[in-house]
Amino acid sequence: MPQGGRTIGVFDSGVGGLSVLHHIRAALPDAHLIYVADSAHVPYGDKPPAYIETRSHTLTRFLLEQGAEAIVIACNTATAAAAASLRDTYSLPIIAMEPAVKPAVAASKSGVVGVLATVGTLESARFAALLEKYAGMVEIVTQGCPGLVEAIERGDLNSPETLQLVERYARPLLDRGADTLILGCTHYPFLAPLIRQIAGAQISLIDTGAAVARQLQRRIEAELPPPTGNGNPQSRETFYTSGDAAQASYIISTLWNKQVTARQLPKPFL
Ligand code: DGL
Repeated sequence: MPQGGRTIGVFDSGVGGLSVLHHIRAALPDAHLIYVADSAHVPYGDKPPAYIETRSHTLTRFLLEQGAEAIVIACNTATAAAAASLRDTYSLPIIAMEPAVKPAVAASKSGVVGVLATVGTLESARFAALLEKYAGMVEIVTQGCPGLVEAIERGDLNSPETLQLVERYARPLLDRGADTLILGCTHYPFLAPLIRQIAGAQISLIDTGAAVARQLQRRIEAELPPPTGNGNPQSRETFYTSGDAAQASYIISTLWNKQVTARQLPKPFL
């Protein structure tokens, strides 16, 4: 069903969730998408869960004020820290995401799967439960990646320093025999070319963006009343940041492949 007039709210600690937004746009071509990059608080990966939970509630309240009918937590770290409490608080569809272990287990031929994610995700109870579910089926090797999110936030997608960091994190997983790497943070798909440069073109890289978009589509069709308007084709995406609007406009335009202007979140939500 066409989803014109729908308003969907999406948030992440920064610009990583744009890797998910691309899939959402493809699934819902005429919905109005409101994206919030919590750039003043990035990275989430080294922050306490309670801090991320508070930020997630603040951003969700903002998106609801803007008329969002469904919320996508385009962030694995925020999902681990806040999905349960957001769902306890709000009854609208809340789509969350976690590292895609199931498809990775199915894809691996070597029997070794590597997970690249933030320390926050890897240390979460939610991730421990996920690992337990697949333990015994394949060997799963995990790797936290401090510094990668910051590089992407700077727009530093291709420098020798970023390549070196990617090498440092991917190499131990490859040396253990991993033929499949889970990109367990929404920022990392933007580093796929560098990861392939190190791991070789045959490596399977698994991320969750497409599955999240499909799940969003299913939930809104099943749970929301039919859309009322036709949408406004002039403002199909609106971008907000809690950080510097000029820097956010620059990096979002790069990753969204289109010149856009990010607005500053209103004060109560900073
Ligand atoms: N993009 C986020 C994720 O998927 C969080 C990155 C961060 O802020 O540390 O985990």
